[in-house]
Amino acid sequence: VLPLFVSPTALGQLANARGEVCQAEACAAHEIPYMVPHIGSCPWAEVQAAANGHGLARGSNLLQVYLPRNQDELDGVLAQARALQFCAIAVTVDAAVMGKRDKDLAARRALRLASSPAAPIGSAALSTAPRSSNPGKWDSSFSWADLHALQKRAGVPVVLKGVQRGDDAVRAALAGVPAIVVSNHGGRNLDRARASLDCLVEIDSALRAAGVRDSIVVMFDGGVTRGVDVAMALALGADYVGLGRLVLWGVAAQGAAGASRIIEMIADELADAMRLLGCADIAELNRQGDWLQRRHARM
Ligand SMILES: Cc1cc2nc3c(=O)[nH]c(=O)nc-3n(C[C@H](O)[C@H](O)[C@H](O)COP(=O)(O)O)c2cc1C
Repeated sequence: VLPLFVSPTALGQLANARGEVCQAEACAAHEIPYMVPHIGSCPWAEVQAAANGHGLARGSNLLQVYLPRNQDELDGVLAQARALQFCAIAVTVDAAVMGKRDKDLAARRALRLASSPAAPIGSAALSTAPRSSNPGKWDSSFSWADLHALQKRAGVPVVLKGVQRGDDAVRAALAGVPAIVVSNHGGRNLDRARASLDCLVEIDSALRAAGVRDSIVVMFDGGVTRGVDVAMALALGADYVGLGRLVLWGVAAQGAAGASRIIEMIADELADAMRLLGCADIAELNRQGDWLQRRHARM
C-alpha cells in the first residue's frame, strides 16, 4: 500500500477539461485516497463514479469541505458526503479567511482585461477586485465546540485539514478526530507561515508526549516534489503524504495519465530512497525519525 494521497486543489478544470475526474482516476489506479475538493469543477458524484469505475473501493476517498455559513447548505453537503460514500469529510481549518494572494489578484485583473480589452488598465481594476472569493458564504468562526456539534451531525468521520500546532493535534486526538492533515495550504494563505514539515516535527512529539500518537492518523502535505521528500515526511511522523500541485501539474500536462505518471514516479523514487536508506518497510523508515529530527533541527 502506497503511503500517499492526493490533496485537494480547487477548480480542476483550469488544468484540464475533465477536471477532478483526472485525479480520481489516477488515485483509483494506484489505490490511494483522493481528497476531493469542495470547490471542484465537476459534480462530486461524477468524481466518485470515475473512482469506482476504475476499481477503487467505495469509501476510499475523502471530501474536503469548507463550512458554509448557511446551515441548510451545510446539511446538503453532509448528506452528499454520506450518500456518495466518502470515508470522511476533511474540514479545512487553515483558511478561515482568504489570505492576501497577490498572484490571484493579478490573474483576476489579467482575466478581466482579456475578456474586455477595452477596460481601463490600472486603478479601476484594482479597486473592484473582491477582497475574498465570497466573503459572506463561509463560516470563519469554526471552534472546538463547533467540532463536537459537527461530529454529531455529520454521520461521517470528521478529519481536520490544516493543523499546524502540537497542542491542537493533541486536542484533535482527544476529541476523537480520526485523522489530521498537517498542512499550511501550501503556503498559499499566510505568508511567513511555518513550513508544514516543521509543524509535523512538533506535532509528532506532542502526540507522543501525550500518549495519543496511535489514536490518530497523521496525514501531511506541503512542498513534496520528490520521493525522498515523502521518505523524509514519513520518517518525521507522517502516516500518509499528500501530493497537491505536483499531481495538478501532471493533470495540466496529460490529464489522468499525467497524474498517474506523477504518482508512479514518486512511488518509484520512494522505493529507491528506502533501498538507499536500508529500510525494508515504512515501519523501519519511521524508526529513522530520531536521527532525521536531529538533522532537520540543524537545517
Ligand atoms: C491551485 C490550488 C488549489 C487549492 N485548493 C484547495 C482547496 O480547495 N481546499 C483545500 O483544503 N486546499 C487547497 N489547496 C491546498 C492543497 O490541498 C495542499 O494543502 C497544498 O497545495 C500543499 O500541497 P502541495 O505542496 O503538494 O501542493 C490548494 C492548493 C493549490 C495549489
